[in-house]
Amino acid sequence: MSKGLPTYRIVPSLLSADFARLGDEVSKVIAAGADWIHFDVMDNHYVPNLTFGPMVCSALKPHARTAAGQPVPIDVHLMVQPVDALAAAFAEAGADLISFHPDASGHVHRSVQAIQSKGCRAGLVFNPAAPLDVLDWVIEDIDLILIMSVNPGFGGQSFIESALRKVEQARKRIDACGKDIRLEVDGGIKTDNIARVAAAGADTFVAGSAIFGKPDYKSVIDAMRQALAA
Ligand code: DX5
Ligand code: ZN
Repeated sequence: MSKGLPTYRIVPSLLSADFARLGDEVSKVIAAGADWIHFDVMDNHYVPNLTFGPMVCSALKPHARTAAGQPVPIDVHLMVQPVDALAAAFAEAGADLISFHPDASGHVHRSVQAIQSKGCRAGLVFNPAAPLDVLDWVIEDIDLILIMSVNPGFGGQSFIESALRKVEQARKRIDACGKDIRLEVDGGIKTDNIARVAAAGADTFVAGSAIFGKPDYKSVIDAMRQALAA
């Protein structure tokens, strides 16, 4: 990072949580130190899997608070096509950030505006083989870049190393633009690779199976923060 120390965000992905008790899982992972909650929306069309919709987001919204009552942002990752109608529904359902894959939208700039006009922050998501070129035209309009370090659709996959180069390129673009844009990475993040991802320029880290796959969420989140501080 070029401007002082980054404020890192650890963002557990509910995809690996216990779906039979999602409200408790949100409360538990926030108590363990989650900064945001990552909400993976899959439509069995853009990706081969199917997860949850705006009604589930709305039901979880009251749980997205610290014990002291501070709201914890809900970070919606749309793996859906088309984008705009569901993005609007998630804004109504309490999402704070909404990211979509530019290749899933016919009109990327319009989708960004539609999200922001509802008061949410907007992000663009890049698959492992997707170029960053669209940022030439919209980087000044967005609030977040999400680099996929696995192919979207499933939790528990292995980190794809070429994502590090893409994170470096995205960081250069953010620094050149000068706007406060979060650089998030999603897929295969663990305590033993998070520092390398941060060194490449990321400041926000999604982790599903690494956190929800372990009995003690706090010890994993603490270990991630220690790795980032080292
Ligand atoms: C994959 C999702 C990820 C997923 C990451 O399509 O976007 O958010 O939950 O899972 P892990 O951390 O297990 O790779
Ligand atoms: Zn995701």
